[in-house]
Amino acid sequence: MTETVLLVGGGGREHAVARALADSDADLYACAGNRNPGIARLAEGFESLDTTNPTAVTAYAEEVDATLAVVGPEAPLAAGVADALDDAGVYAFGPREAEARIETDKAFQRRFMERHDIPGCPVFETFEDMDAACEFIDEFDGDLAVKPAGLTGGKGVRVTGDQITKAEAKEYVRDSSYERIVLEERLVGEEFTVQALVANGDVRVSPAVQDHKRAYEGDEGPNTGGMGSYSDATLELPFMDEDDYMEAVDVIEAVVDALDGYKGVLYGQFMLTSEGIKVVEFNARFGDPEAMNTLPVLNTDFLDVLTAARDGDSLPQLSFAPRATVCKYAVPEGYPTDPDSGAKVTVDEETIERVNERYRGEGGNGADVAVDGGSPPEVQLFYASVDEREDGIYTTTSRSFAVVGLADTISVAEEIAEDALEAAGDGVRIRHDIGKPDLVQQRIDHVAELRGE
Ligand code: AMP
Ligand code: GLY
Repeated sequence: MTETVLLVGGGGREHAVARALADSDADLYACAGNRNPGIARLAEGFESLDTTNPTAVTAYAEEVDATLAVVGPEAPLAAGVADALDDAGVYAFGPREAEARIETDKAFQRRFMERHDIPGCPVFETFEDMDAACEFIDEFDGDLAVKPAGLTGGKGVRVTGDQITKAEAKEYVRDSSYERIVLEERLVGEEFTVQALVANGDVRVSPAVQDHKRAYEGDEGPNTGGMGSYSDATLELPFMDEDDYMEAVDVIEAVVDALDGYKGVLYGQFMLTSEGIKVVEFNARFGDPEAMNTLPVLNTDFLDVLTAARDGDSLPQLSFAPRATVCKYAVPEGYPTDPDSGAKVTVDEETIERVNERYRGEGGNGADVAVDGGSPPEVQLFYASVDEREDGIYTTTSRSFAVVGLADTISVAEEIAEDALEAAGDGVRIRHDIGKPDLVQQRIDHVAELRGE
């Protein structure tokens, strides 16, 4: 039976989901606040609507006779969109509002970890009284992370000893109007993400990915939603071993057990520290950009996962192509603090195609790239938070588009992503250092140093 899938959300992550379903036996419909040209091209219908309005999303799902839905971003989950779809008889792959609190309420998340004895929880306290929070900052022996309890698009956390001083942390706590915050010990190490597809008690994990949160090269500047990311041809990253990966998987499984009935993606953000794995946070959805690393290498039909989840069946085992990926985002000038929204963006898709032909060896000098028995390197373009209008594509306040290189090694994947970035017109900013051998080596050296090797 052909499924009718409604995809909620219009970012790069959702374009990756749309592409993962493109060869499946599914008619795709999508809705988002912005018209994402990549998704619109793959969909039978694309509706502009407020995805945090459960009534509007459900009405569109019913209009197109959706048999399934995938909810991409956190804001609709926090607004109860999965609940509304489920209640309307459209199975949503995405947690209900109560379970999404694992992401949407960081105070709940930490207390949940404590209550259920989930390994990897840092020392923390939650506060509603900001004077008490400031006292805690003064008295805490060591550096801290200040985390607003609610959603901030990845931009609300401030870390002392890294981005700010303790005096600035107190100022931040006092001057911002957050109602609740979490203060926790600063974790030092290398971050990585593991995303799991979860339903009916099954947990299916995907390769580890490293995101780059900071806005500027060399990990400088403010936090962003993520400027780019890489994964290796194995489940692990070059700075970690199989035991580290398995430790992260154990944490995810413990969370799923404790949540009881969770469905959707559970995303674990981990810090590999000198004392093993610690949890930075959980998200109730695919990562953005991380979805663009893992979905392009997923060989299993994603639709089979969705239908098994809906039908109460065991989820299929996942198979991933042994390919490294490097994703680089192009973001509006001024992102994240003062993004230049409403600016025209150009992406020369022919450049992307030319790069692919070159590496395929069809149209040029691709033969100088080693291919170890796998597929030739390739690049994929993902549109993100841009808005397609009659006369072109315009920036919004968030990330514009991404290119993802796929190859046998991270370094070749990085090279092809860079080649493809020639497609980017003016007015966007890119962290070119992501996935380059120097930066990857720094990560390896950092962990070796932490482990006293
Ligand atoms: P979050 O919004 O929880 O994803 O946090 C954003 C970023 O802040 C993370 O990716 C980390 O880089 C950083 N961060 C969060 N919590 C901590 C912590 N306890 N120690 C150090 N860095 C942290
Ligand atoms: N890349 C981080 C996130 O999706 O939250």
